[in-house]
Amino acid sequence: MSVPVAGLSPSELQRAARDHLWLHFTRMSSYRDAEVPVIVRGDGCYLEDSNGNRYLDALAGLFAVNIGYGFGEEMGEAAAAQMRELPFYTNWSYAHPRAIELAAEVASLAPGDLNRVFFCSGGSEAVESAWKLARQYYAARGEQQRVQAVERMAAGERIEYQAPGERRWKAVSRRIAYHGTTMGALSINGISSLRVPFEPLVPDVVHVRNTNRYHRPPEETEAEFTAFLLEDLEEAILQAGPETIAMVIFEPVQNAGGSYTPPEGYWKGVREICDRYDILLCADEVITGFGRLGAWFASERYDIRPDIVTSAKGLSSAHAAIGAVIATDRVMEPFLEGHKMYSHGITFGGHPVMAAIALKNIEIMKRERLVEHVAEKQDDFHSTLSQLLDLPIVGDLRGTGFFYALELVKDKETRETFSDEECETLLRGFLSPRLFERGLICRADDRGDPVVQISPPLVADQAEFDEIAGILGDVLAEASERMR
Ligand SMILES: Cc1ncc(COP(=O)(O)O)c(C=O)c1O
Repeated sequence: MSVPVAGLSPSELQRAARDHLWLHFTRMSSYRDAEVPVIVRGDGCYLEDSNGNRYLDALAGLFAVNIGYGFGEEMGEAAAAQMRELPFYTNWSYAHPRAIELAAEVASLAPGDLNRVFFCSGGSEAVESAWKLARQYYAARGEQQRVQAVERMAAGERIEYQAPGERRWKAVSRRIAYHGTTMGALSINGISSLRVPFEPLVPDVVHVRNTNRYHRPPEETEAEFTAFLLEDLEEAILQAGPETIAMVIFEPVQNAGGSYTPPEGYWKGVREICDRYDILLCADEVITGFGRLGAWFASERYDIRPDIVTSAKGLSSAHAAIGAVIATDRVMEPFLEGHKMYSHGITFGGHPVMAAIALKNIEIMKRERLVEHVAEKQDDFHSTLSQLLDLPIVGDLRGTGFFYALELVKDKETRETFSDEECETLLRGFLSPRLFERGLICRADDRGDPVVQISPPLVADQAEFDEIAGILGDVLAEASERMR
């Protein structure tokens, strides 16, 4: 059954898509002779295309539609009410009720004293904004300390004052990590194929090891692995000059490469190193924020204690273009005095309609107990997916919450991975189209080693876990045969 959308028939949509729409991260040539997939509606964890085919969206849009596709009407009413009341006003020197309410709500959900919320339009902008904030923080703090010292000396106090380093600009991130596409965020990315076409990038980012354990020596203990990673981080900081580093930015669980979870003691060690060298720690929670790991923030789950958190996708369940940088009171403090300000702004940051949608999203997540649901069901999801480890091509299953990856290997014994050409045949030549044909949307990716990423809406339950594992089982069994 074909479904007309906004007046265009499916064939007219195809023509208009080919003629006018430039898709993101897409080889447009692949649609020269093939149909552009056109998704027309959704419900729960399911999507439907313009030809009436149904898909289980095991990627939640892009790790984003946390409440699924079933609350559009309620979200739309919240948007419409806000449109009637105040369709737009800016956060540049002004406030409006929805931005204030959302900031207070986000601060109440974020752990510790992460109380200060700066809105932007998405994840890349959040990362970009966090880096700019970290850069400016040291200058503002240095200035604050200098003024305080001068005041105390003027009051007759005899103090030892040494001007702190006031300019720090470098960031530290991890290899293969994805943090967005705008120039600053791209520079933080650790994925060479995305970086190289746009070099020279924004100076300076130091890339350190990620927490991929699968390809470490099998006899290495978890404690040894943690120590190895922390040593690498500290050495990189010392080599770059700690007094030049503004921010360490890592995801709580790294997405690109396939759900790299942190080994025991890792986050505690990272926090200690940041404290030792007086560096701000930013947890990039663009994916993990708002429930994906069974806590409102993964920073809480892993006791990360970041100075800055970046978030976007799940904040509105992707029903609105909104992101947020959440900073601790300590980070805000130097900006609260005199003429100082964070010299940064974006027209749409804190847009009232986007904020109203995000508020409604959080209300729905609370009402439906979605964060608790993930915490309760994550083990069932993991054990359902772990059946796939019986397949010869599946080397590893990693992840937590509703955020998993299967690593595909050529040889399970030796953990040998596929060559670039083999990945091309396996992932883009076979897996992606076959999974889609079978009605399952997930991501077959080789930004690191080849993985299949699974990250459904947080409303998913055992029926969806079974369907995901069932389709993946069939298709990966076929892939094993083909790659022999
Ligand atoms: C960890 C992380 N940071 C930043 C981004 C960039 O977000 P956006 O695509 O909204 O700009 C992403 C996107 O996937 C992400 O996963």
